Amino acid sequence: MTTVLITGANRGLGLEFARQYRANGADVIACCRAPAKADLLNALAVKVLELDVTDSASINTLAAALKGTPIDILIASAGIWGPERQGADDCDFDRILEVLTVNSVGPWRVARALKANLVAGYDKKLVVITSKMGSISDSSGGSIAYRASKAALNMIMHAVAKEWARDGLKVGIFHPGWVQTDMGGPQAPLDAEASINGLCARIAELSTRTSGRFIDYAGKEIGW
Ligand SMILES: NC(=O)c1ccc[n+]([C@@H]2O[C@H](COP(=O)([O-])OP(=O)(O)OC[C@H]3O[C@@H](n4cnc5c(N)ncnc54)[C@H](OP(=O)(O)O)[C@@H]3O)[C@@H](O)[C@H]2O)c1
Repeated sequence: MTTVLITGANRGLGLEFARQYRANGADVIACCRAPAKADLLNALAVKVLELDVTDSASINTLAAALKGTPIDILIASAGIWGPERQGADDCDFDRILEVLTVNSVGPWRVARALKANLVAGYDKKLVVITSKMGSISDSSGGSIAYRASKAALNMIMHAVAKEWARDGLKVGIFHPGWVQTDMGGPQAPLDAEASINGLCARIAELSTRTSGRFIDYAGKEIGW
């Protein structure tokens, strides 16, 4: 049975990942900040564990609880949009640092802490949910903190893919599309089910050839 660990699994895309992998018979380890309040997740009958991706004590506790458990697929979905004010002249620097901590460093810290579990897994796939808004070659500007956090995540994971290839690990750097979630808003063209359907197909086909590449939910390559 495939074991899939998901961060930010209590709502949005993380919750839909948990739903679809559970429906397909995977053993799902669903991580979120407040398990007791994660009603939708708890209703899925998956294993729910506490994780704040910015908190080293929380990450270490999770890693200790999972010591010796192989993980086939690790999906880092947790992320934040950040403050309203993200303009060049109008910015809240403390909150901008928070966006980088959650979106750029968070997936790396979690993956580093669970690397031995991934190496022990069969699929050996690390997947990060990035955004097309992190593409510098296709940017209209604005939303500086969010864009910068995803551009940084892309670079981090591109480099991680190269270094961890020697351990047999593959890294998917995937854009989910613009999706109806709390972050995406109701005007987004895609629903979570369609986005995650596509992303699960991308994860299934992730290989040493596609590792470290920036790809959307439909399989289209995105310029850095
Ligand atoms: N929706 C879109 O259109 C879209 C487009 C491109 C990329 N993305 C990316 O897709 C990912 C998922 O987004 P979404 O649309 O599902 O967003 P969402 O509905 O706002 O959900 C965000 C999730 O991240 C969790 N989270 C935030 N900070 C965390 C932390 N410090 N530790 C652990 N979990 C934390 C939230 O948990 P709490 O409930 O505890 O806050 C929640 O589960 C994000 O990385 C986002 O940047 C989304």
